[in-house]
Amino acid sequence: MTFDKKQFEEIIDAFTVTKEGLREVAADFRYDLRQGLKDPAQSSLRMLKSYIGLPTGDEQGEYLALDLGGTNVRVLRIRLDGEGRFKVLKKVAKPLRKEGAYDYIGKGSTATQMFDFLASLVDDAIDGERQETFLLGHTFSFPSEQSNLYNARLIVWTKEFATAGVEGEVVNDLLKAALHRRGIENVEPTAVINDTVAVLLAAAYEYGDTYIGSIYATGHNTCYLEPYAGKVEKPMILNLESGGFMKLVPNRFDAALDAASEKPGEQRLEKMASGRYMGELFGMALAELLGESKNYGFTSIDMSAILVDDTEPLETAKKIVASKTGHVLGADDLALAKRLARAILVRSARLVTASYVGIIWQLAGDGGIQKQHIAIDGSVYAKMPGAKECITATLSELLGEDAEKIDTTLAHDGSGLGAAIAAAISTK
Ligand code: BGC
Repeated sequence: MTFDKKQFEEIIDAFTVTKEGLREVAADFRYDLRQGLKDPAQSSLRMLKSYIGLPTGDEQGEYLALDLGGTNVRVLRIRLDGEGRFKVLKKVAKPLRKEGAYDYIGKGSTATQMFDFLASLVDDAIDGERQETFLLGHTFSFPSEQSNLYNARLIVWTKEFATAGVEGEVVNDLLKAALHRRGIENVEPTAVINDTVAVLLAAAYEYGDTYIGSIYATGHNTCYLEPYAGKVEKPMILNLESGGFMKLVPNRFDAALDAASEKPGEQRLEKMASGRYMGELFGMALAELLGESKNYGFTSIDMSAILVDDTEPLETAKKIVASKTGHVLGADDLALAKRLARAILVRSARLVTASYVGIIWQLAGDGGIQKQHIAIDGSVYAKMPGAKECITATLSELLGEDAEKIDTTLAHDGSGLGAAIAAAISTK
């Protein structure tokens, strides 16, 4: 099998965003931000209020942190020691879906099953203790409408979650009910935050100059500290739900992926950029080149393995492609498959960076761009070969010399630490 070169180049083109195109994305993102500040209904960004600002770094005490947002759920006991220091005392982690055993996120699963499972993990994290009181911070990584730090109502599932009975509900009420069912009366959920907010809190706890927090993983989203300059409101972190940014031009693969997804017409940026979908896009483009219409089930982990393969002639890539598609590709086609994976990752990182630039421009206003960190966590940023470098290069492309003022930092495990910080802030 040899790929049609013309068809291949056309596919690469479909995944390429030019410099001008990218500037437009950044400008449109900033426009939607501004519109969203006036009236979220006029913007594709939800701009959800978090009812929390940045920590001082002096928060202290022992807290529970529940982190629910991807395929793995974690409960941590964390001690905050102030001055940006902390210690993880205990960590319990389990997948929400285990092939052949259970599934709390697929179609047919219910809120009761999911939250009873979460309560059992909380129980493990406190070693069955029923006396000592624990305050719990909850990182819940889905679009939620909040009216205060405790009260977060899930608007809609993303990332293909389909558990019935959670949309429209106050998630911490569901958690409390499950804790009570299990006889746990000494754990008090006091704060719910998005994972982007958690990442920003975690980074700001350790060092200053951080106003933007982002997740670049299974899902994608960014938050920032809105200063509300000149307004009566106090500075507050806004969860943009930037995965829902719509001012992007989908190609035919994006359109087909969207049509087959749980929530067609939603989460355009996320579907073009996040880890949950990149492997699928890769598989769809490969299927076209192979003249088939199958879903091969590629993941972003497969793409990473293909991208790091430096063997001659791409032995790992060959095995992965053969196991998923049933086709044993020759050296030339394997090199093209690797180029395809790279093109999809590069487009993803460029779009994500353009959204950061939109926020940086908005924060700078009419003044200069401030020296700052952008806190990022997530498997794509941390593990996909070339993702971080591409973000750095794209910042330079869009910001020129000002890019030197921006440092992207990995806020590893920020979701857990951020939840503990939010629980600490909830006591103030
Ligand atoms: C959710 C966001 C979340 C992001 C990263 C998206 O699907 O809508 O709330 O921050 O995933 O986990």
